[in-house]
Amino acid sequence: METKIIHPNNIKEAVDAIKRGELVSFPTETVYGLGADATNETAVKQVYLAKGRPSDNPLIVHISNKEQVNEFTNDIPEKAQQLMDAFWPGPLTLIFNLKDTSVLPSVVTGGLQTAAFRMPNNELTLQLIEQSNTVLVGPSANTSGLPSPTTAKHVYHDLNGKIFGVLDGGACQVGVESTVLDMTSVDGVPIILRPGAITKDQLSELIGDVQMDRHILSEGEAPKAPGMKYKHYSPNTPVIMINNQLNNWQEAIDFYRKIGKNVGILSSETTRKKLEDYTSFYKLSEIADVSEAMRHLFAGLRELDQPEKKIDVILAETFNEEDKGLAYMNRLKKAANQKFF
Ligand code: TXA
Ligand code: MG
Repeated sequence: METKIIHPNNIKEAVDAIKRGELVSFPTETVYGLGADATNETAVKQVYLAKGRPSDNPLIVHISNKEQVNEFTNDIPEKAQQLMDAFWPGPLTLIFNLKDTSVLPSVVTGGLQTAAFRMPNNELTLQLIEQSNTVLVGPSANTSGLPSPTTAKHVYHDLNGKIFGVLDGGACQVGVESTVLDMTSVDGVPIILRPGAITKDQLSELIGDVQMDRHILSEGEAPKAPGMKYKHYSPNTPVIMINNQLNNWQEAIDFYRKIGKNVGILSSETTRKKLEDYTSFYKLSEIADVSEAMRHLFAGLRELDQPEKKIDVILAETFNEEDKGLAYMNRLKKAANQKFF
């Protein structure tokens, strides 16, 4: 089965496929998701197979209007209501206690009493969900372990032949996956399980105290979101992070040159202009800007990883681990296996 790239005008083809229990990748503001009817157990099982994803890793339920969460939970704290009003549709995933475990197939929840919900900020995908008359699971539509896809072409590269189609909504604007916030902690203080474009400060400004799951700040801790423990985002080419002083960049380039390695540069244009002797360059941003860099990070890792580029090592620009920089560095550190030059 050749995977179809589906033009927005032909959204009905995507809707019909979802209704038949097939898999269709959909665009969101963060990354492309791998969509299947969340109430169809057989379809959801195919999602794990297509991605090669470990099956104890629960999926996010994507909804097209805020009221839909009430089908699954009776436990929406006041703070969650405020967050939904402020940030949905948008890159924030909320975890709630389920009414009971039978409201969703256990392949969706990984057998947990809780489930993750998100209303993506993409008109085309909101229509897809609504017209499909259901809710959709949507893990990132990459082969497990590779960088998440931010264009329909990335999805096609990873999953051609394994899924019915990709609804092509162009390039994603945010570029990294949503902030995952657990609303079920017993003391009532929500916990960020995965950092994203919506920052801790933005959340606390609205609802007060918010905690960061300990593994995000310290590598030794076991994460509470099952998905955060797996290898992620890694291209085949080794990635090395560079602290952004010019002499660090130049030293790293000289070092790899000396041992005969082809160096690929993943940085801002400002940084690149100062450097010599690299094989390829992918522009993360014009001047160093974390939102722009975040938008292009996964695409850049994929681009420099193409075998025909013959790059031996990718040197990547870093940002301070605060605000959006925390989300950027969380992905980059995984891609680089924590290695700094
Ligand atoms: O931006 C996004 O969130 C993208 C787009 C496509 O919507 N989706 C996405 O899904 O990143 P996925 O499956 O790759 O990541 C879901 C994360 C995983 O880390 C998973 O372990 C966690 O959410 N998760 C899901 N349900 C959970 C639950 N009940 N408790 C704790 N963590 C949960
Ligand atoms: Mg993923």
